[in-house]
Amino acid sequence: MAENVVGPKNPYLPQIATIKKIVVETGNIKSFYLVLNDTRHMENFAFEPGQVAQLSLFGVGEATFGLANSPTRRETLQFSVMKAGEVTSALHDLAVGDQIGLRGPLGNWFPYQDMKGKNVVIIGGGIGIAPLRSLIQYMLDTRDDYNEITIIYGARSPQDLCYQEDREEWEKRNDVDLILTVDREFPGWDKRVGFVPTVLKEVAPSPKNAVAVTCGPPIMIKLVLQELEALGFKDDQIITTLEKRMKCGIGKCGRCNIGPKYVCVDGPVFSLAQLRQLPDEL
Ligand SMILES: Cc1cc2nc3c(=O)[nH]c(=O)nc-3n(C[C@H](O)[C@H](O)[C@H](O)COP(=O)(O)OP(=O)(O)OC[C@H]3O[C@@H](n4cnc5c(N)ncnc54)[C@H](O)[C@@H]3O)c2cc1C
Ligand code: FES
Repeated sequence: MAENVVGPKNPYLPQIATIKKIVVETGNIKSFYLVLNDTRHMENFAFEPGQVAQLSLFGVGEATFGLANSPTRRETLQFSVMKAGEVTSALHDLAVGDQIGLRGPLGNWFPYQDMKGKNVVIIGGGIGIAPLRSLIQYMLDTRDDYNEITIIYGARSPQDLCYQEDREEWEKRNDVDLILTVDREFPGWDKRVGFVPTVLKEVAPSPKNAVAVTCGPPIMIKLVLQELEALGFKDDQIITTLEKRMKCGIGKCGRCNIGPKYVCVDGPVFSLAQLRQLPDEL
């Protein structure tokens, strides 16, 4: 029998991962840098920007998180976790060296192959920047494949912006246009002020040869989609993600279905054209 070097045959069986590093991003978001204990599984853990994994803590539970780093930078598997309830709070209490369970990678991914040669507009808010960071890192590591890259990223306050190191890198580069915004004025903040959809309207990226990718709180996504349409983006030029609560993550339990689609296998990434087929979600 061939040896399985990709992961456990039983898709419900978590792989054990060790926390190698923790970055405190904001008051309620921490990034966890994980390495699978089985070195062969770690070497063969093939993921794509936009995919998710189920992280589990023994005796607490399991929850879904987007992979926050690019497969081009895969020394660790990175997840940014916002404190919300039981599992996320327990994750926040862990330390470097602790072990957790990981099932994945799960779901589909951002259609980065179809985005080649295009102007890419990334629009993120809050913890929604996590899967977008994976895509941004990927595009920067394969920069020649893409035309202009614009990133609009907003948070409530300057202290709520994640990924300081990445932001410094993006700000320094002259082949990326990074536009940061916070909800209101703060002492020392000299960048934009305003909600993400309003800033998108001000920046007004052209829909010509462009694709927009957005991820964030549902209300932000709803307003961003409206602004993109007003700017002339067509449904198939707009990509977003759905955060439908998951359980099995492999299309078996029916927890995440919307009509005929299962967010855990058909998503979490959808074009607006695809979402139009799922009337409940718009
Ligand atoms: C595809 C996908 C990708 C995700 N990526 C990330 C990520 O990268 N980083 C991150 O921090 N979080 C992410 N989430 C959300 C994360 O899964 C939830 O915050 C987590 O499940 C909460 O678990 P908990 O046990 O801490 O909270 P619970 O104790 O179960 O619940 C606490 C509160 O959060 C609400 N809640 C829990 N899950 C969700 C959800 N999916 N949507 C809306 N409300 C919810 C509950 O209704 C409750 O009010 C993602 C979710 C999905 C479905
Ligand atoms: S989470 Fe079970 S079917 Fe999607």
